[in-house]
Amino acid sequence: MEQSRGNFGSHIAGVLVAAGSAVGLGNVWRFPYELGRNGGAAFLLVYILCILFFGLPLMISEFAVGRHAQSNTARAFGMLGGSKSWKWVGFLGVLTGTLILCYYAVAAGWTVEYLIEAGVNGFANKSSADFTADFNTFITDPVRPVVCMVVFMLVNLGVILAGVKGGIERGSKILMPLLFLSILILSVASIMLPDARKGVEFLFLPDFSKISSSTLLSAMGQSFFSLSLSMGCLATYASYFRKEDKLVKNAVNVAVIDTLVAVLAALIIFPAAFSVGIEPDSGPSLVFITLPNVFQHVFRGQLFLGYLFSLMFYLLLVLAALTSAMGLLEVPTIYLKEEFHIRRRWSAIGCTVFCITVGIFCSLSMGKLGDYKVCGMNLFDLFDFVTAKIMLPVGGFLAALYVGWFCDRRLLFLEVTNGGTVSVKFFRVYRFLIRYVAPIAILFIFLDQFGLLK
Ligand code: PHE
Repeated sequence: MEQSRGNFGSHIAGVLVAAGSAVGLGNVWRFPYELGRNGGAAFLLVYILCILFFGLPLMISEFAVGRHAQSNTARAFGMLGGSKSWKWVGFLGVLTGTLILCYYAVAAGWTVEYLIEAGVNGFANKSSADFTADFNTFITDPVRPVVCMVVFMLVNLGVILAGVKGGIERGSKILMPLLFLSILILSVASIMLPDARKGVEFLFLPDFSKISSSTLLSAMGQSFFSLSLSMGCLATYASYFRKEDKLVKNAVNVAVIDTLVAVLAALIIFPAAFSVGIEPDSGPSLVFITLPNVFQHVFRGQLFLGYLFSLMFYLLLVLAALTSAMGLLEVPTIYLKEEFHIRRRWSAIGCTVFCITVGIFCSLSMGKLGDYKVCGMNLFDLFDFVTAKIMLPVGGFLAALYVGWFCDRRLLFLEVTNGGTVSVKFFRVYRFLIRYVAPIAILFIFLDQFGLLK
């Protein structure tokens, strides 16, 4: 069975592919705006605690469940012992991932537009006000963002159809290091802008009065989103890991890379935002307005460098979005294939058509359909809220319950420690976190945010 599913070719490929899924718009687009809305450094601190106390243990668990089961996520939960009905946790993950892809594709479409803009040198000689106005005109347009989203999804479909080795593995191995390098260079450039200090302080000097229950929920949701947790994606990828790969080491590597990229992205965005006078809490538009500004200001007078850098950056951003979206599309694709015996090609096409259709409504909700609101949110925000702040925590909670309390402890031990080769001391810490800390903390934050503790 292992052979017929195919495996990643090397240890490093497994890490890079999982990191490719983790590093995406969540780091460069979503993390900065959540951080900006939730008061800066205090959010960063809570975010890092979330990663340590439940992000990492949950990632190890998902890896263990996925590699052990060698199957799609829905079936995987329940294979590590315990009742088969745990497969519903996996199914919830498949559903969450699919719904995330519906609006993720819209934001990814925006990056495609910016790539084209960078290509035709569209950022030259514009002021900050122009960038703000242009972004708003673009996302409220009924046609252009939809076309960009469709293009993005078709490329995504193409990669998925090319298969695991040819598409996902090869792409991630080349792109991840390049993206990292360019983010590093840009963050250094951004810190050197005039008045950038305020941005750096906003990011690193915490004001604890800013921590509220909604900060906690946002940080938790963001940590799940960014690490690609609770969506079946990591479990699906782990089913392609090799038996000798060390799950704990892989998980630590992925979490460190992901967090580093998010912090570096914030180090590009906030110094620049303060430098050119853009509000740090301006929401989903933040990155799309500050980044072109960065290119304008940093490379003032060096037109060619500005052109080259903006082009390279947006290209990498599109590709980072793609390596994440591939994961999101792979999950329902393999689910339909293995559970309903639909051919891979048709299940991938079906999922793409579904996401594009719902994505069109999400995109239109920025403009033409903006008046239709549920609980004060347009469709795009609603999808983001329901998936990141409700479905992901619920999925994470159930996964922690399963792995911590209901699965077969011995099987889990063998999987996490690779048959006893990884230190047992660590296993105890991991098990404590997944049994007590993760479920209790998730439940508490969740109930508190929705006012159910008062
Ligand atoms: N983690 C990705 C990001 O930060 C999003 C994602 C979620 C990708 C779940 C795959 C699965 O952009």
